[in-house]
Amino acid sequence: MTTPVYPAARLRRPRTTAWSRAMHRETVLTPADLIWPLFVTDGAGVEEPIGSLPGVSRWSVDLIAARAREAVALGIPCLALFPNTQPDRRDPVGTEALNPDNLMCRAIRAIRDACGDSIGVLTDVALDPYTSHGQDGLIDDAGYVLNDATVEVLVGQSLNQAAAGADIIAPSDMMDGRIGVIRQALEGAGHANVQIMSYAAKYASAFYGPFRDAVGSSGLLKGDKKTYQMDPANSEEALREVAMDLAEGADSVMVKPGLPYLDIVRAVKDRFEVPVFAYQVSGEYAMIEAAVAVGAGERDALVLETLLAFKRAGCSGVLTYHAAHAARLLNG
Ligand code: PBG
Repeated sequence: MTTPVYPAARLRRPRTTAWSRAMHRETVLTPADLIWPLFVTDGAGVEEPIGSLPGVSRWSVDLIAARAREAVALGIPCLALFPNTQPDRRDPVGTEALNPDNLMCRAIRAIRDACGDSIGVLTDVALDPYTSHGQDGLIDDAGYVLNDATVEVLVGQSLNQAAAGADIIAPSDMMDGRIGVIRQALEGAGHANVQIMSYAAKYASAFYGPFRDAVGSSGLLKGDKKTYQMDPANSEEALREVAMDLAEGADSVMVKPGLPYLDIVRAVKDRFEVPVFAYQVSGEYAMIEAAVAVGAGERDALVLETLLAFKRAGCSGVLTYHAAHAARLLNG
């Protein structure tokens, strides 16, 4: 490539007018790039605002179906579901995750009834919304999260969700080897077309706080998740995680959190040339809303710029709590 020399080259020249900027734009964001995470709670007609996530609520199953219809109308292709399990249904081994009538399964069926196949349902596989200790898996006496014993439960959880009609199983637990056994179990149970989106590079992040409030695990969790989620200092390790999950049968991979980890998105995309998704997590959402609340930024512009950045970095799509708002903006 020859180095452009001024004044023959003036990089401002194509930026002069809106039509020219549009013509030279390298990346576009559309509602089809968005996955909308929704929190499910018990009851009927219930909307519970989440204090640390202003503008985001937990919805009862009947109202989740209404959100799904809204998403379809906005052109959002997929929902991601997270349950707020009642405390009396939580135990040390996350038994409620295997209940075919748990909140998650009821929400999946309600969305299917309301929208048929016109929207995808992505379900979270991990035990933290169901355990009495708030960890993503089974723990030993010392509180260490056990890998292989946890994976066995995650397989049951995945089959339970697939039987209820989940389209994409999304393990967010970071146990080793779970993608392979979940894939095998799905094939064995006749769910050959149920996808797996692996949370492959999920970091032990300080940005998950509001989410833990939303699913009701923040008060239960003692300690941290550093023995299974990744060290934010590492990127080579992210590539190894992705390689293993792809080899085990993941259809797509996720990087999480989002904006602080766009270098990881780009590295994964360049290395593997597979669909990469990112999760603009709860703390990132809260940061934008906090900036808006003090007048430090303008919501619409912050939302669209950050989401576009994910696309530029190589993402096929983004999980974001701003999905409906962003889709409305994009639809004009
Ligand atoms: C847990 C899970 C977490 C998130 C998604 N799945 C939190 C955690 O790992 O503690 C975080 C999402 C967010 O912060 O928006 N399996």
